[in-house]
Amino acid sequence: MVTHTSKPWLFFVLLLVLSYYRASFAIAADTLSAGQPLSMGETIISEGSNFELGFFRPGSSSEIYLGIWYRNYLGGVQEKVWVANRENPLSDASSSKLELSEDGNLVMLEGSSKIPFWSTNLKNPLSNSTEAVLLDDGNFVLRDSSNKNTIFWESFDHPTDTWLPGAKLGIDKITGKLNQLISWKNSEDPAPGMFSFRLARDGSEQFILEWNRSQMYASSGVWDDKNKSFSLAPDMLLNYITNPIFVTNEYESYFTYSIKNSSPKYRFVLNSSGLLQQLAWSEKSWDWTLFWSRPVNIYDVYGLCGAFGLNYENFSNPCVCLKGFKPFSIEETSLSDWSGGCVRKSPLQCMNNTYANGKKDWFKKIPILRFPVNSKAVSAMNCEVACMNDCSCTAYAYNSSGYCMIWKGVLLNLQQLSDGGKAGQHIYLRLAADEYQESGNKWKVWVILAVMVTATAIGLILFLSICFSRKRKLRHKHKGEETSRYDLLLFDFSTELHGINDGTNTKDNVNIRGKKDGELPVFSYDSVSAATNNFSTVNKLGQGGFGPVFKGKSFKGQEIAVKMLSKRSRQGLEEFRNETTLIAKLQHRNLVRLLGCCIEQDEKMLIYEYMPNKSLDFYLFDQIKKRVLDWETRIHIIEGIAQGLLYLHQYSRLRIIHRDLKPSNILLDTEMNPKISDFGMARIVGDNETQTNTNRIVGTYGYMSPEYAMDGLYSIKSDVFSFGVLLLEIVSGRKNTGFYNNESLNLLRYAWELWRDDQSLEMMEPTIGYPSSTSVLLRFINIGLLCVQESPTDRPTMLSVVSMINNEHSPLPTPKQPAFTRGRNDVMYTNSTINSVGNVTISIMEAR
Ligand SMILES: *[C@@H]1O[C@H](CO)[C@@H](O)[C@H](O)[C@H]1NC(C)=O
Ligand SMILES: *[C@@H]1O[C@H](CO)[C@@H](O)[C@H](O)[C@H]1NC(C)=O
Repeated sequence: MVTHTSKPWLFFVLLLVLSYYRASFAIAADTLSAGQPLSMGETIISEGSNFELGFFRPGSSSEIYLGIWYRNYLGGVQEKVWVANRENPLSDASSSKLELSEDGNLVMLEGSSKIPFWSTNLKNPLSNSTEAVLLDDGNFVLRDSSNKNTIFWESFDHPTDTWLPGAKLGIDKITGKLNQLISWKNSEDPAPGMFSFRLARDGSEQFILEWNRSQMYASSGVWDDKNKSFSLAPDMLLNYITNPIFVTNEYESYFTYSIKNSSPKYRFVLNSSGLLQQLAWSEKSWDWTLFWSRPVNIYDVYGLCGAFGLNYENFSNPCVCLKGFKPFSIEETSLSDWSGGCVRKSPLQCMNNTYANGKKDWFKKIPILRFPVNSKAVSAMNCEVACMNDCSCTAYAYNSSGYCMIWKGVLLNLQQLSDGGKAGQHIYLRLAADEYQESGNKWKVWVILAVMVTATAIGLILFLSICFSRKRKLRHKHKGEETSRYDLLLFDFSTELHGINDGTNTKDNVNIRGKKDGELPVFSYDSVSAATNNFSTVNKLGQGGFGPVFKGKSFKGQEIAVKMLSKRSRQGLEEFRNETTLIAKLQHRNLVRLLGCCIEQDEKMLIYEYMPNKSLDFYLFDQIKKRVLDWETRIHIIEGIAQGLLYLHQYSRLRIIHRDLKPSNILLDTEMNPKISDFGMARIVGDNETQTNTNRIVGTYGYMSPEYAMDGLYSIKSDVFSFGVLLLEIVSGRKNTGFYNNESLNLLRYAWELWRDDQSLEMMEPTIGYPSSTSVLLRFINIGLLCVQESPTDRPTMLSVVSMINNEHSPLPTPKQPAFTRGRNDVMYTNSTINSVGNVTISIMEAR
């Protein structure tokens, strides 16, 4: 369709565009006609330039596939929405081609071979006048070139892992053909993976996620035609989706949807970790935004880690092999493709004879979260003996009533928390005698010892030389200090912080870059003291609810913040370390990073990254400084807080409820990116000790949800409430003075009354002028009011909040009257009533 142009500048632009896109040459048409084969390096582009079709090599793979991807000049990741020959790749780039055969079928050939690698494979000879066209919705269609409405074949009927708007997912009852999504094996191999998304097998109107085409692990719930939604996934069809249709008749049963006209590029995809996700293209971040994912937690994906794999609380790498097992293939670690599971390092003795060579299998006790399926109940006096005597038995356990269960063959879907024991259930895993450490060869122990001694000696020499080369020498008051304590002054935080703020982490807002060694550094008291100039008042940044915060500096000039915890926490040191290590693993660009801790001399301290721009309240409520926060910055801050909170609620395995979200806990970095601080404090200081400082409680009344203030009940919805207050404060620049003081202005009531009277614009921060788009601001107010509704069940989850924020055009629900706005006969608390209400959580709010 490229025509000769007489405008030289147009030609120049074209050259520019092509230079971005050197790798392939567009055939300059959306149609493949007879006698015009498509070779590697050439592509077909849909009429509106949305999609492109051609041969490609995934990642570093040398295999060649034919696929469709989004046309995207600026070189983002080319997400493949369809792959033709996913099971049968080509290998010779020079002779690969796609063409129309003489009988009208589409065929993919390599070299001089006449046997196609892939073909549309339609039986009845078509006409010889077919053509294949790539439509602008991503559908690749084989049709009659003289009668374009006669379609013989379409790629929408053969989906891979992506479900585009307009495609049908379901079953043809006549031919039995099933349209389902099947995940890629891994990011570099489009071959069918373990996970699929399809219509339920029992013929009911619902979709399920399955592992290995057999084990279901999630369901949409049945279709409710009146409400046009799926019963267990009511939020699945919100956002951009419009016109969802479920058709069931005697010929077929399928579901399809469209997206709204103004929507961005959009897709459902079943990723290679078994998560069904909805993604939309964001022009703002020039990347795909994830706004819906099922199951919500990756550990609900069945069999994620394969046979004898253990799903472990580790964000960077969720799978490990059980002790005595090793990964089946190299892909498992490099590409996170655990479908092969794990294999034994040493064969079991029982394969020969139970006592071969005098050695005997043994059982290792492993804590797990839940038992694998397919157990067999055994009535045996001694479960271990029962399992040992059956060579196919790989594990045994006692269920909660003390009965014996055994498992034969592979073990699947094992899960463990990193702190192991809390799971409460154990399984006894059969292992070969060779895996029994104590009986291992003695010479191995000696070799290990020798290596350790040498390493220690080298380490000592290095350590001494570092000490001597130091210009300032630290006084070491405490002899016999454990060597595992780091010197804060010498520590290099730059390697720790790398990757957090550099934008590489933003892909789907839930990526976390786990610290490789998984350990949180523990710093010596002396070094922390030296870094903060003996905790001098000059260095004091403020007084938080849990104790004072100091600024510190390492020798390299890296700044840190030291939070000194009050001494009253009753938590043991080991527990404290475990909790801080868990919290430190929560890494998100909208969370302040915990870098280390210090436990010594009765003191517990947390070392955080330092935020130069202080906290949000410093700007928000100051007559002069509030001008720094223009509308764009404010919206950016709200979005960031929402993302950080969503991560705490949904994507971190710990499911952190913040409980004290307020402007002073929102810190700002140099670019005014918001970072939530003080999250996980309930865990760090010990659950019952969260609210020890009465002053702090009074100070945060304005942000507490009614159920928390009244009954001490908190849930993720209490955080949503605080978020709503925060949002309204950011938009209005006014403080919610708190509901206990009825005389002064209550922001929630003010916001509600303006909303009710359609006057919400009056609420906006007056000093910084009107925003370019008032409708966006009104939308935020609407979201804020939804969050502060009285009943927790009415409030949206952070997941819905984020999707409401991201999808500017989707309609919003109408909020009900917020909490604390009904006047005197509504819930009214004074400080004294708080102290007298109940005795559960409230008791710990009492002054000491
Ligand atoms: C998946 O299912 C197939 C056929 O049902 C079976 O042969 C195979 O062993 C299963 N894979 C795993 C890892 O269990
Ligand atoms: C998490 O995974 C990484 C990478 O495989 C590993 O090095 C680290 O030890 C793991 N952390 C824990 C706590 O197991």
